[in-house]
Amino acid sequence: MQKSLKDNTVIVTGAGGGIGRAVAERCARLGMKLILLGGNNREKLRETETLVKEYSFCLTYPGDLTDLEFLSRSVENAIEKCGSLDLLINNAGTAANTPFEKVTPEEFDRIMAINSKVPFFLTQKCLPYLKRSSAAAVINIASVTGHAGYPMQSVYSASKHALLGWTKSAASEYYKENIRFHAISPGGVYTDMVKVTRPDLSPEGMIMPEDIADIVEFILTHRSNAVIDEIMLHRSGKEPFLV
Ligand SMILES: NC(=O)c1ccc[n+]([C@@H]2O[C@H](COP(=O)([O-])OP(=O)(O)OC[C@H]3O[C@@H](n4cnc5c(N)ncnc54)[C@H](OP(=O)(O)O)[C@@H]3O)[C@@H](O)[C@H]2O)c1
Repeated sequence: MQKSLKDNTVIVTGAGGGIGRAVAERCARLGMKLILLGGNNREKLRETETLVKEYSFCLTYPGDLTDLEFLSRSVENAIEKCGSLDLLINNAGTAANTPFEKVTPEEFDRIMAINSKVPFFLTQKCLPYLKRSSAAAVINIASVTGHAGYPMQSVYSASKHALLGWTKSAASEYYKENIRFHAISPGGVYTDMVKVTRPDLSPEGMIMPEDIADIVEFILTHRSNAVIDEIMLHRSGKEPFLV
């Protein structure tokens, strides 16, 4: 039986475009109350907000998520206004296309922070609220690079391995409290990010952001005893069963 998500409150990070925007719009169409958290490009975030507000209630907090004070303040303010929190979708991320020998300590720290540290501490911040929900879930948008090393993506790959690592630990710590952790690990989604990291790929055969929104909807609306830990996806032009 499908679970209704109407009036559940969800935080989506990095909803200014790409996967985050598609997921936020889908959550709004499903009747969820939206908290759009973080984004440096305010114009793009405003566009998402306008889209989402066609269907649902929405609070928006533009800003740099690596500022953990901002993150903490925003969550507290949002929960004060919404009253509760049921779902967290850690989507914001960044990547680079840098040869191993050219990676600087600054680039290493920046990518590790956005892709692993920020979702870690955001999740930590949200847990007291999620514990009060009857069907709490955290969805982390990981990557196939969390399972394999791709050339020019050493730090990105390390950050997604790290994200998947703590996702597994947190899932084990909290499943008895009825909080579910899920990872979605795609490869090759047609967004601004992939245009930078894989300029060699053409849009044909790539995964679309709406495909990820479909998976999010499926996970959240099928809260049965068959629990999905991770879903891995590859673009249709890539050989199956490889990461
Ligand atoms: N595209 C792919 O092929 C692919 C494959 C596997 C996994 N993923 C993952 O999917 C997620 C979404 O990526 P996407 O493909 O949709 O790329 P995208 O369009 O570039 O979206 C990334 C989002 O993260 C936000 N963000 C980045 N750094 C931030 C920061 N410091 N503070 C606040 N927001 C920040 C960006 O906001 P601003 O632009 O406003 O800063 C943007 O909205 C990422 O975690 C990515 O690693 C993507």
